[in-house]
Formats: sequence, C-alpha cells, structure tokens
Amino acid sequence: MDIKKELRLRKYLVEDILDKSLSKDGKPGVIFESMNYSLSAGGKRIRPILMLETARMFDSLAETDIYPLMASIEMIHTYSLIHDDLPCMDNDELRRGKPTNHMVYGEAMALLAGDGLLNYAYENMIKGLSNAHNKDGYILAMAEIANAAGVYGMVSGQVMDMECENKSPNKENLDFIHTNKTGALLRASVLSAGFAAGFSKEEEVSLREFAYSIGLMFQVVDDILDVIGDSKELGKNIGSDEENNKMTYTSVYGMEESLRKVDELERSAFKSLEIFGEKGEFLKEFTKYLAKRKN
Ligand code: IPE
Ligand code: IPE
Ligand code: MG
Ligand code: MG
Ligand code: MG
Repeated sequence: MDIKKELRLRKYLVEDILDKSLSKDGKPGVIFESMNYSLSAGGKRIRPILMLETARMFDSLAETDIYPLMASIEMIHTYSLIHDDLPCMDNDELRRGKPTNHMVYGEAMALLAGDGLLNYAYENMIKGLSNAHNKDGYILAMAEIANAAGVYGMVSGQVMDMECENKSPNKENLDFIHTNKTGALLRASVLSAGFAAGFSKEEEVSLREFAYSIGLMFQVVDDILDVIGDSKELGKNIGSDEENNKMTYTSVYGMEESLRKVDELERSAFKSLEIFGEKGEFLKEFTKYLAKRKN
C-alpha cells in the first residue's frame, strides 16, 4: 500500500467536507476570513482520517453519516492550535507552514476565531444528527467528542501543560499532559466512529487500547520532532518546547528512551488491531506512518 498516496486521497475528501461545512463569508467578514485562514491552511487531517478509517472497518455504518463529525473534530483541533500558539500560551509564529493566526489577524481576532470554530463545530455536529441512520450511536459519538475536547480531556491537558512550564520533571504529570492534551482528541476520533457504528464490547476494548497507544505515540513523536525535526518540513518552528521550558517526553525521559517508546507503542497499537483481521490493514499502515512521520 502506498500510504502517502492513500492519505493524500483522504485528505482531499476531508478538505472537500470542510469546504462544504463552513461559510467563506458572513458578517463581520474578518472573523470568517480568520477562521478559514487556519482551517484551510493545510494540516495532515489525522483526526478525521482516523475517524473515517475506523468507521470503514464496520459494515454497519454508512460513512457519510459521520462526515459532520469528521469536519467538527478538525474544527475543534484547529481552534486548539490557534489558541495554543497565542503569546499567552506557546507564543509561536509559524503553523501549518504559515504565520500563526494571531500574527495575521491579531490576538483578539485569533481568540475569537478559536471561539467561532469551537462553537460552530458543535452546531455542525448537531445538524448532522438528522441525517444519521443510527441516531443513538451518533449521539454517543458526539458525547465522546465533547468530553474529549473539554475539561475532562484536551483542555485539562493544556492546563497541566501550562502549569508544568519551568517545573522539574514529573512522570505522572507528563503522562497527564500527554494522555489529555493530544491523546483525548485522537482517542475520540477512533471511538466516536465505533460508537456511531454500534461496536460490540469486545471491539470497544480493542479500539480503546489502539486509540490510547496511537494517542500517546503521536505526542511523543511531536515532542521528538520539536527537537530534531526540520522546521520547513514540519511547518512549525522547532525548539519551541525548550524555549518555553515545557515538560515533554524528551525532556523527562531523554531522546533514546523516547524513540524506544514510539516503537513500543507502535507494536501495542498493531496488537490491538488483531481482532479486526484484514479490515485493520489500513489502520496498521497508518500507525506505521504516524510513528515515522517527519511532519
Ligand atoms: C499538532 O497536531 C498539535 C498536537 C496535538 C500535537 P497535528 O500534528 O495533527 O497538526 P496538523 O493538524 O497536522 O497541523
Ligand atoms: C498542543 O501541543 C496540543 C494542543 C493544541 C491541544 P503542542 O503545544 O506540543 O503542539 P505544537 O507542537 O505547538 O503543535
Ligand atoms: Mg502547547
Ligand atoms: Mg504548541
Ligand atoms: Mg509540540
């Protein structure tokens, strides 16, 4: 399988769905411009692709049912990046290969673009309910996404990330940061598809293990790339974590152990997919790509 080519095709599909989900204009024009600036800046679209490919393992689900959930999780993720880059948080100037939202539109508009994307994500999910075949499953999927995005998930991880700046290494806090700030939305990308499809208990257990492994792996790789990545390829400046004295996997465990951890998590992700047989093939290839990614 040419995974890069396959991912490109899915990225086009996601971008087409996003394009149809969010207006290009409205009043005042600047907020629509600012929201669309970040949402259409590119990005790998990992979360919606994970959701789509998890959904495709289940014959019981019409994949168009989850298109609104795919768009919404990407909007939530994009809002989190806009806010993450603000001077009061990570103070970064480059994102998805372009100047960060606040560099172009100013801090107030960047804050509001995040607010706009977050709220519209929920509006968009709720609108999608009327077309869903399995409405109970769709509602469980929405609840999973809402929980993961909020103070029991991504927000709590971001809070701990800020609280741990300039603090001495603490493995427990690091684990909290990683499983929440990044892991939560990635887990929700996988699990929401399972809920929408009405997965069995056994499938749920395996998908939870899979989602946990790739969620953590994704942030360990993010931390590694902040040290040894190439800014041009990455589309964001490297060295941001060191500059902000962040508690990261590499700062707590060192580079060698971080690389070993990626291998370990990759293997456990594979193992969790075993019960899906051939249907899990794409997610296996996707996992390999995520472990080796350079951007
Ligand atoms: C970056 O996420 C922020 C983290 C949660 C680690 P991605 O690496 O998925 O960023 P994009 O969407 O491709 O820009
Ligand atoms: C960001 O983590 C996680 C969220 C945006 C929720 P990082 O701060 O490590 O992400 P990057 O490195 O700026 O993309
Ligand atoms: Mg951050
Ligand atoms: Mg950051
Ligand atoms: Mg980072």
